[in-house]
Amino acid sequence: MDAIVDSKAALGEQARKFVSETRKMLVDGKWVAAASGKTFSTLDPATGAPITEVCEGDKEDISQAVLAARRAFEDGPWPNMTPSEREHLMHRLADLIEANADELAELEALDNGKNKAIARMVDINLAIETFRYMAGWPSKISGDVLPLSTPRAPDQQFFGYTLREPVGVIGQIIPWNFPLLMCAWKLAPALACGNTIVLKPAEETPLTALRLGELICEAGFPDGVVNIVPGYGHTAGAALTAHPEVDKIAFTGSTEVGKIIAREAADSMKKVSMELGGKSPAIILPDADLDIAIPGAVSAIMFNQGQVCCAGSRLYVPDNLYDAVIEGLAENVSALKIGSGLDPENMVNPLVSETQFQRVMGYIDIGREEGASVITGGKRRGDSGYFVEPTILADTNQDMKVVQEEIFGPVLCVQRYSDVSEITRLANDTIYGLGASLWTRDVGNIMRFVPKIKAGTVWVNCHNILDVAMPFGGFKQSGYGRELGKDVLELYTQTKSVCIMA
Ligand code: NAI
Ligand code: MG
Repeated sequence: MDAIVDSKAALGEQARKFVSETRKMLVDGKWVAAASGKTFSTLDPATGAPITEVCEGDKEDISQAVLAARRAFEDGPWPNMTPSEREHLMHRLADLIEANADELAELEALDNGKNKAIARMVDINLAIETFRYMAGWPSKISGDVLPLSTPRAPDQQFFGYTLREPVGVIGQIIPWNFPLLMCAWKLAPALACGNTIVLKPAEETPLTALRLGELICEAGFPDGVVNIVPGYGHTAGAALTAHPEVDKIAFTGSTEVGKIIAREAADSMKKVSMELGGKSPAIILPDADLDIAIPGAVSAIMFNQGQVCCAGSRLYVPDNLYDAVIEGLAENVSALKIGSGLDPENMVNPLVSETQFQRVMGYIDIGREEGASVITGGKRRGDSGYFVEPTILADTNQDMKVVQEEIFGPVLCVQRYSDVSEITRLANDTIYGLGASLWTRDVGNIMRFVPKIKAGTVWVNCHNILDVAMPFGGFKQSGYGRELGKDVLELYTQTKSVCIMA
């Protein structure tokens, strides 16, 4: 592994300039320091060294941001803009992201640790696509004319229709695995529906959200429509959840924190949508094409170092293919180069933080103690940064913690099965239900198994394919509500019925 000692030296001029100063927060269209004056360091996962200081938002800053969002929602120019004016602003923002895509990819790679070229191709491109797709909605969101049957006097008439109105001030709390893309998934539909927003990026990865904030100002969104307050979960995040002027919380992160937020939001009956953890099965059926299934299973878990909520972390393999699959997985994994994400050759990059590193290494130890065989990896790589070797744990079973709990790292649990009629029971034996993949050449298998799998997305002969037109979200403890596609409009509008007597 080649260590990059000075990550900043690998940046272009724009990104280097961005990280050369303390980053402030965006409140009411202005860049301000925290009321407390506090800052925190954001760290480079490849080295553990600080990148720059970021102003640390807390209750007072959240309160200022929420009040700004409330003013912008009730009285500012935003509610009076036409749908087409909102569309123009969103398109302008998408164009600005595209114009600054390389810089954003570098900042993402530096702050999160991920591969710069993949960040450009996946994270930044999908963020642009999300704003463009959602920019199409403002002029197309409409209510219905209702065929009323209310009894009436001969000279009376009732006319009924519905309006789809924005929900109001939205608090959005996002994680660190796809920092800019999660901003786009949250902001774009909320804006398309006419809401105003206070967004709290993850404390591990605030940089691209703050750069996006600059682009939002440059695009010309009115003050207070989007406010961005970096800070910690138990302080800034909790204050946002508790604030009485917030109408809805949209959260992506751990199931544990999702439950805390849902409980807290219940007090004021805030609306909530939750995109939470997963332990998604990848199921190789006996007729699968292994030339597709084996590399597919590797990328299902290793993409983004396994830090993907829908990662294919449980692989089910039929007895007759088991040895060939294990051998193929080991071969594929050993070809992956490990190192800093700022060198695009490196396909396995550091985990986001020391905490995640410790958590993942802890699970690998648990897997060993539980009796899994470590086929590849299992160790730290290098002595600085948070690198974990891609790890394959074979001979696992449903009773193991490593099979039941979300690891969120480059760790695949492989399990054999002998009876294909058992496969949906095994796949569904989890508290989660975010994604699943089936690997088969038989359309009959697709028709038979897809309806039985309890997951928000089922992929066939692929995994982790996300498209802005395709709704995404969880069954069971993976959450509720669907992001993307037209389903997301449900999360950011509410229906008003109007009845006129004429
Ligand atoms: P987390 O759920 O603690 O953090 C996600 C976001 O929630 C961050 O912005 C954080 O500041 C905020 N937050 C934390 N506590 C909060 C609170 N009490 N009130 C309001 N906001 C709060 O996730 P964390 O600790 O970073 O990762 C732990 C595990 O969660 C991971 O190992 C993984 O299993 C899972 N996870 C799942 C993600 C997904 O995409 N579904 C993303 C990140 C983590
Ligand atoms: Mg946390």
